[in-house]
Amino acid sequence: MTAQLNPSAPITVEVALGDRGYDIVIGRDVLRSLGTRIAALRPGARTAIVTDRTVAASWLAQTQEALDDVGIVSFPIVVEGGEGSKSYAGLQQVCEALIAAKIERNDLVIALGGGVVGDLAGFSASIVRRGLDFVQVPTSLLAQVDSSVGGKTGINSPHGKNLVGAFHQPVLVIADTAVLDTLSPRQFRAGYAEVAKYGALGDEAFFAWLEANHADIVRGGSAREHAIATSCRAKAAIVARDERETGERALLNLGHTFGHALEAATGFSDRLFHGEGVAVGMVLAAEFSAERGMLAADAAKRLSHHLAEVGLPTRLQDIAGLAQEGLADADALMALMAQDKKVKRGRLTFILLEAIGRAVIANDVEPQPVRDFLARKLADKI
Ligand code: GLY
Repeated sequence: MTAQLNPSAPITVEVALGDRGYDIVIGRDVLRSLGTRIAALRPGARTAIVTDRTVAASWLAQTQEALDDVGIVSFPIVVEGGEGSKSYAGLQQVCEALIAAKIERNDLVIALGGGVVGDLAGFSASIVRRGLDFVQVPTSLLAQVDSSVGGKTGINSPHGKNLVGAFHQPVLVIADTAVLDTLSPRQFRAGYAEVAKYGALGDEAFFAWLEANHADIVRGGSAREHAIATSCRAKAAIVARDERETGERALLNLGHTFGHALEAATGFSDRLFHGEGVAVGMVLAAEFSAERGMLAADAAKRLSHHLAEVGLPTRLQDIAGLAQEGLADADALMALMAQDKKVKRGRLTFILLEAIGRAVIANDVEPQPVRDFLARKLADKI
């Protein structure tokens, strides 16, 4: 688990889903091999590359070159950056562009970007011509360790995040770790929250390794590939056992019930990136677990200490603009959580912790103790 891996050799993680199985290829400069890998996987395929303006400026030319080199035709489809593109309008733009480019059943859609592009391109691929295959080329740390793997695709509804979507697995994931060098430190840290999540939910040894090696992950040393591969292996194993989230896949939502409500309360704006919401949400989940007597208070402190050490927000009071603009009160946060997919007949589903490395699904949590807990956390002095 904790051994360093040779940074020059790409690491392949297999997602074992039978005839829907695929490889995740992780390493520096693996984007250059995109064309040869696609040519081997789908000879004769044409491609459409769905990306956003920011990613296009940095990586579209290199991606098209990797395809051109082996004679693969590619049509770029460029959407606006940001969560706003995960909308009905964004979906229409991509679907119509795929149809106009005559991308057919034997062709491939390539999602080149972060979580927004991956979710939007994947969902478009799942419905155009009743299903096109797609390749994920994630360009953010968060997308490399989470959203590009496992087949969750979709858009947001005015009622909430990811409420319209489909399970649609990619046929290949290419995670080029050199691409992460151009992320802002804040974006990188937000993705790191999802890496720490895998340690917190199921692997105490990995969590301890992260505590010792996080600086090298940020610097881009061989620890980065190891952290991404370990995260992808953890996710691939869970997805292989529970692709449609009828059971243990829900563990991957650690920090997300609180986190999604906080993202919604801050308008899905730059005040709180998704990974930052997950960081605050994981600490809240740990502290709530400690309050219920399930988790040692020291373990909750250990989690929040590590996230704070890498520069992530861990308290409601850390959320940008809180002092100026305020945050929704406990009742409003409860209402936002009730709209989440994690609610069933008035009972909330939370992923709680029994230890660092041992998360459990609690699907019968009464709302009142959660409301009281949030009211106390909101009232904490800065
Ligand atoms: N991001 C959680 C999952 O893919 O299930």
